[in-house]
Amino acid sequence: MLLKDQVLEALENAKGDFVSGGQLAERFFVSRNAIWKAVNALRDAGHKVLSVTNKGYCLETGSDVLSTQGIGKYLGEYASKVTIEVYNKLPSTNTLSKEKAIQGGNEGLVIIADHQTGGRGRLGRTFLSPAGTGIYFSVLLRPKFKAEVATMITAAAAVAVAEAIECLVGVEAKIKWVNDVFCLEKKVAGILTEGAFDFESGGMEYVILGIGVNVIKPQEGFPDQLSEIAGAVVDGTELPPDLRSRLIAEIIKKFWKYYSALSDKSFLADYKARSFVVGMPVDVVSGESVRAALALDIDDTCKLIVRYEDGTIDALSSGEVSIRPHKK
Ligand code: BTN
Repeated sequence: MLLKDQVLEALENAKGDFVSGGQLAERFFVSRNAIWKAVNALRDAGHKVLSVTNKGYCLETGSDVLSTQGIGKYLGEYASKVTIEVYNKLPSTNTLSKEKAIQGGNEGLVIIADHQTGGRGRLGRTFLSPAGTGIYFSVLLRPKFKAEVATMITAAAAVAVAEAIECLVGVEAKIKWVNDVFCLEKKVAGILTEGAFDFESGGMEYVILGIGVNVIKPQEGFPDQLSEIAGAVVDGTELPPDLRSRLIAEIIKKFWKYYSALSDKSFLADYKARSFVVGMPVDVVSGESVRAALALDIDDTCKLIVRYEDGTIDALSSGEVSIRPHKK
């Protein structure tokens, strides 16, 4: 680990408190001058580090630069399951994760960006990903189970996101089948799961689980075309200290618990309970076709059971279909 990363870890663990330069120098077997240089490198990267004579260095509680160390400290026992890479700006975390998967990257690689210039959503849509307002990350998975089971990864992740939001922010989070998380009737999070099928084993070669959460609204608000549907987890335009890091860690922890026993479907009851489309009239959109239907239920493989106006019943899987609940 680089000295600046070691210093950041020490400052993150004591966030809000001072750590003396002498102690840091002793701990890492370097000079005080080397510590001072490391602190300056952290400042150059945007971390807010105070220095006070005779007290040392203090990472301000409001310093909110995403980092491996800042997220890792909230992961607890799950820290050993994942390897976290944080980038300031990427076109798309899913795209980079896919490249890493093809190059042989290991399960548990988590790619995080503060800002995406080409964030991707389902069905070829874009996902607005401005700097310093949301969390955008992708988890590389190499599931051992059959492809049918792998389709439940998205549903398990939606539950993990909803639970993490509720647990850390205290606002109710609902799920719009299959992968959108809503708070106060606005979409606050989306999930894009992509993967490669392995024909030999009938399983998946890799799965990329991409998660985007609007934590606060962009300074300038959501653009017109999104303002009707998009919302943020927290009101206002100030990021609560560490909330992004804590949300990422909490989502990873909750997701990993479900993922490591996916066939037990322990997330399913919560998924169904949070799904707000069941019982509602919806439009089933598939390419150019739009059909009115009634959402009847979600089955045990997370398919949405719908009844069309002509009485036929269908079980929708997430693939190419999206649904639009009718306006109340
Ligand atoms: C959707 O709402 O249609 C899904 C949005 C998924 C967005 C996330 S942000 C992190 C990851 N990288 C991407 O390019 N997309 C996903």
